[in-house]
Amino acid sequence: MSVAKKEYKRVTVKSLVEMKQNEEKISMLTSYDYSMAKIVDAAQVDVILVGDSASNVIAGHETTLPITLDQMIYHASSVVRAAKRALVVVDIPFGSYQSDSKEALRSAIRIMKESGAHAVKVEGGSEIRQSVTRILEAGIPVMGHLGLTPQSIYKFGTYTVRAKEEREAEKLKEDAKMLEELGCFGIVLEKIPAKLAQEVAESVSIPIIGIGAGNGVDGQVLVVHDLLGMTHEFNPRFLRRYMNLYEDMSKAISEYVTDVKSRDFPNENESY
Ligand code: KIV
Repeated sequence: MSVAKKEYKRVTVKSLVEMKQNEEKISMLTSYDYSMAKIVDAAQVDVILVGDSASNVIAGHETTLPITLDQMIYHASSVVRAAKRALVVVDIPFGSYQSDSKEALRSAIRIMKESGAHAVKVEGGSEIRQSVTRILEAGIPVMGHLGLTPQSIYKFGTYTVRAKEEREAEKLKEDAKMLEELGCFGIVLEKIPAKLAQEVAESVSIPIIGIGAGNGVDGQVLVVHDLLGMTHEFNPRFLRRYMNLYEDMSKAISEYVTDVKSRDFPNENESY
């Protein structure tokens, strides 16, 4: 089975729409630093998301709310230096776009100018319509994010599946249409029923990237630390682990400690 239909030297927002048209699934993965992004990019991941999940997996916060715009720009600029092929999308963090559209535009401009990233991502639908419009009018590509939107976790109360009820599902469909009409180049759908996600993907011309949204969408995204098994305590049903790095790293680091304590490291060959 062929997995890639066309070679892309550099993935652009246009390439993603083309992939959807050609029924080529889009791969998206997070990265927050240069070394990881280099590996992710070399593995031909189409989109690298500098997610505000950095707040969880890098900084150890319980939610994505505390991470700042300056911190996101620092992570993004490290990733941009590594990404030779992937499109780099950066989350605008909580508190940097919700209050008014001018602030949203200023935040998006800072991300683009100071990190060199290619696009931004924002969470929400009709509530942030003006902000999305203003950022797009400045020529900055915007990706939407609907369903479970972690920046609103205190409104939801839990990280359970969203849009199971008819009313919330209808609003999600309307929001997806609105984001498409405004000019967003894609939408992330997080933790919603697979049937609803497929319906949305079939109703819009822009790519729908799912996380916990089933296989009927145009692509998939995961947090790289989850995929590699570094976050061993996080076990949602949607997660497929490709490694158990937590165990492998713990073993390697324990061996190092043993070798230092026993004076085995460094040996003669490892000395000058
Ligand atoms: O911040 C993030 O990593 C995300 C993905 C989970 C989609 O928004």
